[in-house]
Parts: sequence; C-alpha cells; structure tokens
Amino acid sequence: MTESTTIRWEQDRSGVVTLVLDDPNQSANTMNQAFRDSLAKVTDRLEAERDTIRGIIVTSAKKTFFAGGDLRDLIRVTPDTAQDLFDGGMAIKRHLRRIETLGKPVVAAINGAALGGGYELALACHHRIALDAPGSKIGCPEVTLGLLPGGGGVVRTVRMLGITDALLKVLLQGTQYNPRRALDNGLVDEIAGTREDMLAKARAYIDAHPESAQPWDRPGYRIPGGTPAHPKFAANLPAFPANLRKQTNGAPYPAPRNIMAAAVEGSQVDFETAEVIEARYFVELAAGQTSKNMIQAFFFDLQAVNSGANRPRGVAPRKVTKVAVLGAGMMGAGIAYSCARAGIDVVLKDVSLEAAVKGKDYSGKLCAKAVAKGRTSQEKADALLARITPTAEAADLAGCDAVIEAVFEDTSLKHKVFQEIQHVVAPDALLCSNTSTLPITALAEGVERQGDFIGLHFFSPVDKMPLVEIIKGERTGDEALARAFDLVRQINKTPIVVNDSRGFFTSRVIGHFINEGVAMVGEGIEPASVEQAAAQAGYPAKVLSLMDELTLTLPRKIRNESRRAVEEAGGTWTAHPAETVVDRMVDEFERPGRSGGAGFYEYGDDGKRVRLWPGLREHFTKAGHEIPFADMRERMLFAEALDTVRLLEEGVLTSVADANIGSILGIGFPGWTGGVLQYINGYDGGLPGFVARARELAERYGERFTPPALLVTKAENGEVFTDAR
Ligand code: NAI
Repeated sequence: MTESTTIRWEQDRSGVVTLVLDDPNQSANTMNQAFRDSLAKVTDRLEAERDTIRGIIVTSAKKTFFAGGDLRDLIRVTPDTAQDLFDGGMAIKRHLRRIETLGKPVVAAINGAALGGGYELALACHHRIALDAPGSKIGCPEVTLGLLPGGGGVVRTVRMLGITDALLKVLLQGTQYNPRRALDNGLVDEIAGTREDMLAKARAYIDAHPESAQPWDRPGYRIPGGTPAHPKFAANLPAFPANLRKQTNGAPYPAPRNIMAAAVEGSQVDFETAEVIEARYFVELAAGQTSKNMIQAFFFDLQAVNSGANRPRGVAPRKVTKVAVLGAGMMGAGIAYSCARAGIDVVLKDVSLEAAVKGKDYSGKLCAKAVAKGRTSQEKADALLARITPTAEAADLAGCDAVIEAVFEDTSLKHKVFQEIQHVVAPDALLCSNTSTLPITALAEGVERQGDFIGLHFFSPVDKMPLVEIIKGERTGDEALARAFDLVRQINKTPIVVNDSRGFFTSRVIGHFINEGVAMVGEGIEPASVEQAAAQAGYPAKVLSLMDELTLTLPRKIRNESRRAVEEAGGTWTAHPAETVVDRMVDEFERPGRSGGAGFYEYGDDGKRVRLWPGLREHFTKAGHEIPFADMRERMLFAEALDTVRLLEEGVLTSVADANIGSILGIGFPGWTGGVLQYINGYDGGLPGFVARARELAERYGERFTPPALLVTKAENGEVFTDAR
C-alpha cells in the first residue's frame, strides 16, 4: 500500500517499515511541499500503527539520500515572509521529533550524499549507516552559503558530539566528508560496502535495539564535554572567538556567529526550546542579504558557469588525451600536475631536460604530501607521476592534442615557442597560452591556425586554485572555445569565458584593488590601517602584502605597456595616484617586492614576512590623517566593482555569473558579497544606493569612482545585474 508517492511506505512481515524517499517529479529528493505533506502523513500513520511496527529504516531510491531545502525558495525569503519560513521549519522539526520519540528504533540507511537537510534527516534517526559510494558526501555545508542547519542540525550535533566537536568538525567549517571520514569523525555510526549490506546492518540494529531512543532522550543524559556551565567546556570556550575571527577575519559573515550562538544557547535549555532558538537564528540568516549573496554565487552562478552556460552550443564534447605543457616554471609545473591528476598524459617541455625534470619534481612533491596525508594512495601517486614526461625536445610533442604554453611573459618568445612546435603536435591540436596579461589576438598572430588559438589563464598555485579564465581572441573559433571549456572541466576546474583585452577580466580588476590600497598609503593613511581595512572587507590577502607577492615591478611594467598602447592609439593616459608610490618604492627605496627581499614589508633571510617597513610611515604617512574606516574598505570593493561594470560595457565580460565566480575564485573578492556584481545588486539601497555611494566616493577621492553609464541606467530603470533573460 502506498501512503504517498514522495515517501514510499514499505512494510515487511516482521514489522519493519522502510520509508523510501522517492520524489516522482524530481531527480533528487528535496524539502518541497510534496515532501512536507508526505512527512506529515507518514508521521501520523507511524503513530497510528505503532503497535504493529518493530522498527523504521529511512532510505532513498535516488542517487542522493536527500538534498535538503530548496535554495530557490530560500533566496526569496524576505523579512516579511520570514515568519512563514519559521513556521514551516518548525512543522518539519515537530514531525521528525515525533518519529524520533516514537519508542521504536529508527535507522538512516544513507545510500548517497546527505548534505545539509539530508544529513539533518539522518540525525533525527537513532543510528546512521552510510553506503561507501564513490562521491558520496556527508555533512552540514550551510555555513558556506551563509546559513546554518535549521532542521535540528545544530541542536542534534551538539548533543551527539559535544559543542566543541559539533562546532569545529561539522558546523563552522561546513566540511563535506566522504563516508569513511564521516565515520572517523563520528557523523555516522557504521559504513557498508553494498546496499544489501547496508540494509542488513539496519535490520541487525533494529533487532538488537527494540526500544531505541536518542541518547538525549534517556535519563541522566549530559551533553558530551559539558555545557558552558561546566568546567570542561569553560576550558574550551576561549578558543571560540579566536576560531571565529580566524574564519571571518572580522569580515561581515553572520553565519558563524549565529551558529555559535545557537549551539551555546541551545545547549543550556531543553531539546524543544533549543530547536526554537535554532530556528530563530536560521530565519535571521535566511532573511538577510549575505545568505542571498552566497547562495547566488556558490550555488546558482557556480552551477551556471560549470554547466556550460557560456560554452558554444552544437560543438560535440571532446576529451584531451595528451597535452604539451611548454615551460616548466612555476605555472607550467602546476599545470602539468593538474592535467596528470585528471588522467591526461603530459609532455612537459623546457629549454633543458634539467629544467623540465625540475618542473616534474614539483608534482613529485605534491604527490608525496598527498600520500603522507592519506589523500591518495601510493599507486595512484605513482601512476600520476608516470603520466608526466619531461623533455627538452620538440619531437617528443608528437601526437599532443592540446598545447598549454607557460614560458616567460614575452610576446616574441611565445611566438617563437609556438612556431617550434605547431607542426609537431597533432594537426588540429588546441593551442592555448597561459599569459596573464598579453592580448590573445596578438599572440595568435604567431601561429598558422589562429582559429585554434585561445587564452587559458590559470592562477597560482595551480593545484589549489579552482578557476581558469578562458580568453577568446578576435579570431578564436567556437570549436576552440568549446574544446578549451571541456579541457578545463576535464581537469575539474571552473571555467569563466571573457573576450580579449589587456589584462582580461581578473588581472585588470585585481589591479584596481591593489592600486586603491597603495593610493591610500600615498595619501598619508597609516599602512597598518590599510591592511586592516582589506582584511575587514573580507579579502583573503591584505592589499600591501599581496602587492609584495606579485612584485611592484610587474604591475609597473604592465602599466607602462598599457600606457604606451593607449597613447599609440591616440588616447590620453589617466595616471592613478598609486603610480607615484610604486615608482618611489622601486626607484628611490629599492623595494621591488617579496622576491627582491624588500617591499611594503620587511622579510627575513628565510623569505618570511617580518613587519611592515617602518620607512612607509616616515616617507608617506601624515600623522593624524584619517578617513572613515568604511571609506577605506569600500574604496577597494568599489574600485573593483566599478571596473567590472566597465568591462561589461566594453564587452570583455558577457556574463554576470562569470564575473561573480571569477572574482571570488580567481582574485579573492570577498565571498560574503556573492561576487563583484552581486555586491552591487545586494548593496544597501540596491543599485541606486550603490550609485549614490560611488558618487560620494568620487567627490572625496577622485573621478575613478564615477559610476559608469551602464550602472546609472540600470539603477534608473530599477534593474539588477543578472543573466536571466
Ligand atoms: P617562470 O619563470 O616560473 O617559468 C617560465 C619557464 O619557461 C621557465 O622554466 C623557463 O625556463 C621556461 N622557458 C623559457 N623559454 C622557454 C622555451 N623557449 N621553451 C620552453 N620553456 C621555456 O614563470 P611563471 O610564473 O611560471 O609564468 C609563466 C607564464 O604564466 C607567464 O606568461 C606568466 O605571465 C603566466 N602566469 C603567471 C602567473 C603567476 O602567478 N606567476 C599566473 C598566471 C599566468
């Protein structure tokens, strides 16, 4: 007999009821209205037929166990509809609580991913068995979307693991564990190799625990490790603010704060009250702007970008089997590793065999580290290394179906290396350059097949950075664009697509961030305050330290080239106030950045940063010169956002999702904003508010903050930046 179609009721003769989650209208089970209705009916029936039931197994007929809340609904919650969200959430919690306290053993047979609401459903069961399926993930990643687990996840993990472990292992980081690591960290009780094994273990638990209950519903229960009133907990308490600070850097991320509050406050009251507290903190986050920004970026935009919203249609997908990497320096070595890790054969070429071998050694080091940390096996590491062939001979590139060039940043050198190999590799090989600034159209002039030439801009360190910026030159064909896109996905990275322009999107926009920070030093603002403003805005790297990493000479070289290009085209170069600071740092004080041993910071013999160079205060800082701290933060954020709008106007950027994702994953634009254009959408007062503030900054700090026409028009028309058509 079928109780409902979303949760299927299957009862065997022994009295075991299996609740099979199987939404007939979707590929995954989500917390939609049909589920809510089913859950209500199933709960009533379980209570009504309690005496005929021996135990309950919750499992799913889909690939994932349960996908949790529907983010399309959550992103629309406003302060006006927050009460509905609260009521709806409490209703589900009450159903789960009724099942949990039925007095019958309830087992979650987690057959696939159980993240967020999916894991919370499993937490309401007395025993959790996870199928050790490849790609299966378990945990509460809500914090990464600016939310908290509002389906009892905070209340139950605190009671199951103790506050410290619940916060550090599950709630504050949002770690997604594979089943084995979920077992090691106490998120599940058992793992199983097959579905049959999982169900057999579930039955065995039911047989052995006929009157099962949650630990917290048993007499004498105490939260493991104590609550804030207990000495053991008190000993851990001082670590929390530090942890929170480390995680948010002082930037406006409300979720970690609400999670901690819900956990600590909830630990001091009974279960039911704790659930209400959790719901209040959840609804506050859901109705706020940060969660909307983060859901937009890390869910919708990321999905759009990775699923190929920008990939030309109608070009058949193609996989690369053998790639030539030209230049085995820092970038080439990292690119070789990333390709080999994805199973692609790599020929790594440099000017000498020695240099190429050195580039391969980088992969050796990364592999050894991964093996030592248990992230991969020795066999897999050996196989990865065996795929990389170092060489100095062009002839070894025969048969390569893609080329990624990463030699020095020099147009004529790049032309030369492509000429050497263009007839050696496969006749239709995709030709890519990893240049970080040189226009692709001009680089393509060095090859015969310009239609197959494209920019593939990786970020350093390549093995860690998830983004690749694909740059379409004027003559790049759709086929090449589609193949480049497929290659980036093949190596499990996220591709954004932009049109050719000096510095493309990422290098150009990050330059505005750095220039703004440096300009503030030049105005006489205390350098330490500038660094603090960057951190509090949410940037992962402080602005002057980042400038030192990139070196002061490189942006200067790029700036001089840009100025020449502008002047040659008959235009006038508008100097940025940062330029004189950089010039003085390099020419007068001989401080070219970290690699030169001295920059805005002082460095020890081991290359480690020691402190801000005291000379900055002597030569630049004007005692007592201060501007509002909010201005300092927003000058950096606005500088990047405004130039991004100009890039849209110029047609370099063609998609809002690409801008948002590229800015967060590529150049460290703060995640709480949802990316550089979502920052404008979500700004206090919306686009009109942003325009007004930009005008204010323009008046105070210079015309570079004048809002571009596109932004003003959109603000006037009541529009936002969106790809939706
Ligand atoms: P690097 O100086 O570490 O490596 C360049 C390598 O190219 C050296 O090993 C050199 O021996 C080799 N090389 C020079 N001439 C060659 C030739 N004729 N044939 C084969 N190999 C040759 O430089 P890095 O940092 O790896 O940069 C390489 C490219 O990547 C540049 O175009 C750079 O703009 C770009 N890039 C750099 C990023 C970074 O963060 N360093 C980020 C993104 C792109």
